[in-house]
Amino acid sequence: MKMWNKCWAVVMLVTFVIAGNTQANDCVPRELDFGIVCVCNATYCDDTPDNDPKIPESGTVYWYISSRSGLRLNLSQARFNSCEASSDTPVLTVDPSRRYQTIFGFGGAFTDSTGINIRNLSRAAQDQIIRTYYGRNGSRYSLGRIPIGGTDFSTRPYTYDDSTGDVSLRHFSLAPEDYNYKIPYIRRAIELNPDVRFVSSAWSAPAWMKTNQRINGLLGFLERRYYGTYVDYLIRFLQEYRNNGINVWGISTGNEPFNAFVPFDRLNVMAWTPRTVTEWVANYAGPMLENSEFNATKILLLDDQRFELPWVAAIVFRNPKAKHYISGTAVHWYFDQFFPSSILDDTHNLSPDKFILMTEACTGANILDNPKVALGSWERGQEYVLSIIEYMNHWGIGWIDWNLVLNRQGGPNWINNYVDAPIIVNPETDEFFKQPMYYALKHFSRFVERGSVRININNNLSNVKSTAFVTPSNEVVVVLYNRSNREEDVVLEDPNNGPVCLKLLPYSINTIIYAQ
Ligand SMILES: *[C@@H]1O[C@H](CO)[C@@H](O)[C@H](O)[C@H]1NC(C)=O
Ligand SMILES: *[C@@H]1O[C@H](CO)[C@@H](O)[C@H](O)[C@H]1NC(C)=O
Ligand SMILES: *[C@@H]1O[C@H](CO)[C@@H](O)[C@H](O)[C@H]1NC(C)=O
Ligand SMILES: *[C@@H]1O[C@H](CO)[C@@H](O)[C@H](O)[C@H]1NC(C)=O
Ligand SMILES: *[C@@H]1O[C@H](CO)[C@@H](O)[C@H](O)[C@H]1NC(C)=O
Ligand SMILES: *[C@@H]1O[C@H](CO)[C@@H](O)[C@H](O)[C@H]1NC(C)=O
Ligand SMILES: *[C@@H]1O[C@H](CO)[C@@H](O)[C@H](O)[C@H]1NC(C)=O
Repeated sequence: MKMWNKCWAVVMLVTFVIAGNTQANDCVPRELDFGIVCVCNATYCDDTPDNDPKIPESGTVYWYISSRSGLRLNLSQARFNSCEASSDTPVLTVDPSRRYQTIFGFGGAFTDSTGINIRNLSRAAQDQIIRTYYGRNGSRYSLGRIPIGGTDFSTRPYTYDDSTGDVSLRHFSLAPEDYNYKIPYIRRAIELNPDVRFVSSAWSAPAWMKTNQRINGLLGFLERRYYGTYVDYLIRFLQEYRNNGINVWGISTGNEPFNAFVPFDRLNVMAWTPRTVTEWVANYAGPMLENSEFNATKILLLDDQRFELPWVAAIVFRNPKAKHYISGTAVHWYFDQFFPSSILDDTHNLSPDKFILMTEACTGANILDNPKVALGSWERGQEYVLSIIEYMNHWGIGWIDWNLVLNRQGGPNWINNYVDAPIIVNPETDEFFKQPMYYALKHFSRFVERGSVRININNNLSNVKSTAFVTPSNEVVVVLYNRSNREEDVVLEDPNNGPVCLKLLPYSINTIIYAQ
């Protein structure tokens, strides 16, 4: 243990504001029911442009802070080797030589409701929303999730072929929702970031392909005789989206199949068991996609809660054909508090060549959450940041939010399953509100670009959670969250650069960046 002397006054002095090079638009704060949101409109939105110099000068770090007290990606700098701390100050040691998974990205979902809400604003405000998520000065999102047909976040239940018995898919067609609420906004995201990748999931096959003849309800399995027809249906979706300029990178075996075993659930859903999904992937989805023009499309298993991971992966991966065709598992975050993150490690160890991608998360989803949209809630931002740190530290290659945009009710949703979202629109004033959840995600997505590799940092302090990466351009990015209600001193120690002292504000998210 190094001997540090108490010298925090010096630390505060050497932590200086960057003068002259922050043309950033600052947050326009508004105190709402549960805390602070940043308000954007047709002509103004806070942003995070590149710094000058873009990469911190040797010996310095860029330090972005968001806090419950109201900072939002507030930039300052600190210097290595310019402070001394007391010997009992916790030390966080970064070890860039211990490398783990490669990061694929961060993003959110283009649901019908997202588009309905974006469309309820002026064209200029719509562009601000897409820019603040996908733009270079925004969150730099690199992933998007596209539902195949309707979800509960639609105003009606539908699929792309609701004509009973249409085995040849003659009546297959995209829905008005695709043209009005999804494709235009997805295409604007692609214009801003041509490297954005999309994962798609169907909530249900057409009712006529299912054993219960319904789009939702209990135990609606895919009829065995339609195992191939349903793959044809999914390939038609890939074709139609490609025709509209949107290439889908990966497709999951279906959204949350386990909900089909929950009585009285009204969500659009189709049931799989590990045995039936194995057969469908091994003998239909895998080979049919491989023999199609979409042979590069990844197949993602599960797309459901963490607690199902061990048995589903164990059973499906026992079949060599199914295992061959599956690139990774998609997992949702609901109920994570009841199931340890070691499940992710176990899944990784079972098959280290299969990635783990978190594909759906939102707050306000619990039956007791009231209101569904808690405007300004820092606690909900904290849930995001703690989850992202956990997934990163347990083999996750990315983290995808649920609805990008909702209204103040948390909808629309055809079964009244309202939830919260990082951006809430207020069409009456042509404004939108960026909640702490937005900034929690941005603390990662803005800095941890695709191809970054997670590196080791000790993560054993009870109040400060941490994760670290090295980017393709050889910058180190460390994210720290102080989840206590007091200031915390820590020393961040890098083997090549030395120590830097950081006083972490109460309830603050800190992204620290420096050149290797
Ligand atoms: C948009 O927001 C900016 C910054 O708060 C403000 O100056 C401007 O007046 C707003 N525009 C409208 C039309 O409200
Ligand atoms: C990002 O912000 C900077 C500084 O305001 C501006 O010069 C630049 O044009 C912006 N870039 C994009 C892609 O909007
Ligand atoms: C951001 O932090 C600096 C100190 O680094 C401070 O001077 C500035 O006022 C902060 N900005 C806001 C909007 O709080
Ligand atoms: C995938 O299909 C394309 C034609 O669409 C073909 O050129 C390519 O070789 C195929 N790749 C594999 C791995 O089969
Ligand atoms: C769209 O905005 C109007 C107010 O301008 C509001 O009455 C309507 O409910 C909004 N639609 C949705 C789906 O939120
Ligand atoms: C935390 O981890 C560091 C580095 O792995 C180690 O030196 C230190 O003893 C650990 N502290 C506790 C309290 O376990
Ligand atoms: C985090 O904040 C808590 C409470 O504000 C404080 O006690 C603690 O020292 C801080 N931790 C760090 C490492 O900054």
